[in-house]
Amino acid sequence: MERTSLCLPVVLLLMQCSPSCSVTVSTNEPKVEVKEFSDAVLSCLFHTEIDQNPRIEWKKTGKDVSFVYFNGQFKGSFGGRATIEGATVTLHGVTQEDAGEYRCEVSAHLDIVNLGETNITLKVLVPPHTPSCEIPASAVTGSVVQLRCWDQQSIPPAKYSWFKDSKPISPPRRANATYLINSQTGILEFQSVAKEDTGHYSCLASNEVGQPKMCEGKHMTVEDVNVTAVVAVVLVVCLLGIVCGCGGLLLHRNGFLTRHRGRSFWISQCPGAAHISSQTLHRTEDTSNVNYIPPPQEDFKHTQSFML
Ligand SMILES: *[C@@H]1O[C@H](CO)[C@@H](O)[C@H](O)[C@H]1NC(C)=O
Ligand SMILES: *[C@@H]1O[C@H](CO)[C@@H](O)[C@H](O)[C@H]1NC(C)=O
Repeated sequence: MERTSLCLPVVLLLMQCSPSCSVTVSTNEPKVEVKEFSDAVLSCLFHTEIDQNPRIEWKKTGKDVSFVYFNGQFKGSFGGRATIEGATVTLHGVTQEDAGEYRCEVSAHLDIVNLGETNITLKVLVPPHTPSCEIPASAVTGSVVQLRCWDQQSIPPAKYSWFKDSKPISPPRRANATYLINSQTGILEFQSVAKEDTGHYSCLASNEVGQPKMCEGKHMTVEDVNVTAVVAVVLVVCLLGIVCGCGGLLLHRNGFLTRHRGRSFWISQCPGAAHISSQTLHRTEDTSNVNYIPPPQEDFKHTQSFML
């Protein structure tokens, strides 16, 4: 009895609206942007000509397609944290995991065009996190120096600005400015760093989503090349050269390289070299002896004869 009473108006409607009876599906907001941990409303509006009880399904599309809402229930990770009203879904406490493409599908079996769908993109916005800053502790005058700042989590990507001694560094205006700031990459570059650039540097990451965040920062000291250090290095290098030269001659003298040829030269250039050589030889033989005792003369002779 019930079936016939339902069928009759359906048939009548079909006759009326044919052939344009169709389900129509639309959305108020095809692109939804919400801050993380808040609620996202994915609107899905439908209109059916005849079928008053269409089937509603929600899918998350993209690489893999998975059900969000099927057979009157939320599936997987959406269970317990999503609600539906009509065909509009509200996701509570969204995270980055929820960002992506969604599709609302409405199938009205009694309509002629019986399937309608609409796509919704969900973007989950993330406020800036404290950026990581890379600031050298020291730099040499005139060198190229890069200070880096980055926060990989913020969505949309953070913009960066730099501070020196807590004062903002304005983006360079003049063509002859000695530095560049890239607010997208977060790099502050000095093409030729000067002593006046010494100071405490820090960087601020900001996007429209939340409070800007600043890194702790670091002190950078710019100095000329340390003259005393250079002199010391040169002296050490010279000493090493002399030591190596004498060492080479020592080898000559002891017959490691060419027999006899170096000896007269060695003795004339380095008086007392014979003594040093014997000491050196004995030192290498007994390095554990802290209080060095000069070797007996016989031993020295023995070594010499052995070597020569
Ligand atoms: C929704 O997206 C799918 C691809 O994921 C596409 O095939 C389909 O035509 C889109 N539907 C609408 C109504 O834009
Ligand atoms: C840059 O050039 C302008 C003139 O074009 C000059 O007045 C200014 O002092 C220069 N600044 C530096 C830092 O050299």
